[in-house]
Amino acid sequence: MRRAVCPGSFDPVTNGHIDIFRRAADLFDEVVVAVGVNKSKTTSSGRFFTPEERMAMLDDAVAPWDNVRVQGFSGLVTDFCLEIGAQAIVKGLRGATDYDYELQMAQMNSHLTEVETVFLMTDPSMSFVSSSLVKEVAAFGGDVAEFVPPQVLSALTERIAERARGE
Ligand code: PNS
Repeated sequence: MRRAVCPGSFDPVTNGHIDIFRRAADLFDEVVVAVGVNKSKTTSSGRFFTPEERMAMLDDAVAPWDNVRVQGFSGLVTDFCLEIGAQAIVKGLRGATDYDYELQMAQMNSHLTEVETVFLMTDPSMSFVSSSLVKEVAAFGGDVAEFVPPQVLSALTERIAERARGE
């Protein structure tokens, strides 16, 4: 069984992420989308969505693929890979900035364990899409409908309205 982990914070998941999950699901027997639950990054310090909300949106997003599931993790991604028996980490690369950052993480991770990192080149139509930019554009009233699934768009719209009301 070849198992891969797609780690990230997914705050929120974008169509760029989903394209990577779909392609990873073609390459591996099982793909685990691993949602990082970093205690220093709570909703009060910048996160839009709680881990539970992010995981629920991911569950919807990966529903079309039987061999993709969603799981939360805390601590090192390499420890999570060992725990679930994953041989690889799969990440999308949008460009040189991603590459510089991801190369360092991939090398650290392979130093920590024998896990391989597999990079998939982001679809060019999504190379400028990130969770951060989607949130920023949406917060200022821009249209992000083509970058996220409909349920994420609804959740974003609702969260922005809640924040505007000071909730
Ligand atoms: O979507 P993000 O914010 O780039 O995801 C970051 C994430 C969760 C994948 C990364 O922070 C991570 O792997 N955190 C776990 C801690 C860890 O293993 N750190 C060492 C990486 S070399």
